[in-house]
Amino acid sequence: MASQLLNVSALSAGTEDKPILHSVDLAVGAGECHVLMGPNGAGKSTLGHVIMGDPAYRVTGGRIEFDGADVTELSADKRSLAGIFLSYQAPVEVPGVPLYSFLRTICQKRPELKTTARKFRTRVGEIADQLELDQSFLMRELNVGFSGGEKKKIEMLQLLLLQPKLAILDETDSGLDVDALGIVSRGIQAYREQVSGALIVITHNTRILERLEVDRTHVMVKGRMVAEGPAELIAQIDANGFERFERGDEQGEACAECPGCPKAGDAE
Ligand SMILES: Nc1ncnc2c1ncn2[C@@H]1O[C@H](COP(=O)(O)OP(=O)(O)O)[C@@H](O)[C@H]1O
Ligand SMILES: [Mg+2]
Repeated sequence: MASQLLNVSALSAGTEDKPILHSVDLAVGAGECHVLMGPNGAGKSTLGHVIMGDPAYRVTGGRIEFDGADVTELSADKRSLAGIFLSYQAPVEVPGVPLYSFLRTICQKRPELKTTARKFRTRVGEIADQLELDQSFLMRELNVGFSGGEKKKIEMLQLLLLQPKLAILDETDSGLDVDALGIVSRGIQAYREQVSGALIVITHNTRILERLEVDRTHVMVKGRMVAEGPAELIAQIDANGFERFERGDEQGEACAECPGCPKAGDAE
């Protein structure tokens, strides 16, 4: 297990006055696709933000290792340079910053992506076309006045441009119509194919997973990981919801029913 790309161990974190994550473990190998599910308020987004280094949260225990280095204390921009990417559940609007300038600036900071203005323009244009995003969007202020679907496409544009080693997609599929969902799914697939990047997909919607080969599924309830299993666990959750895990969280019996759950032996 020493060669994991991401290794989150016994991670506890929260805001200044509220503990949210309690001793969370999560290991993701290079190129693997993991799904994180759980009821609203379970702490899924918080985990994504803490892995990314969002200063709104404080780590109170445990550690985060990425690509062989301890990144627990690293700032978000350094983690981004190291190859971690977080697609926000609710992308922020940045008035005054044109999308194109934003993309150009973040790419120029990366030695591996630095290129001429002409090549950059071509590359961004190709990705925008791939995502069926009108190129006029590139000149608009970042996310200002964009629809929910357009914001999610901009997140995909960044993903395909930055080619991170690990992408955490936080409900990238929520609020998308069928067409936009298809385009975003294809964007995720292109990321997988082009850079063999690892994924943590946080979702309630199994449709986005149809095109992905899922290696591992994790279930979080009340800030704790309560179950882990193969891709088949997603179908069970889709059919039966989280009630079993929420019960199990208190009674310690949920994992007996999870296929492949490493905790199954403890749950007797
Ligand atoms: N910045 C924050 N300030 C205060 N409370 C927060 C903050 N971020 C998350 N929380 C709280 O932590 C809990 C987990 O939230 P979240 O991680 O968004 O859950 P999920 O993504 O699983 O729905 C919720 O009770 C939420 O209100
Ligand atoms: Mg969330």
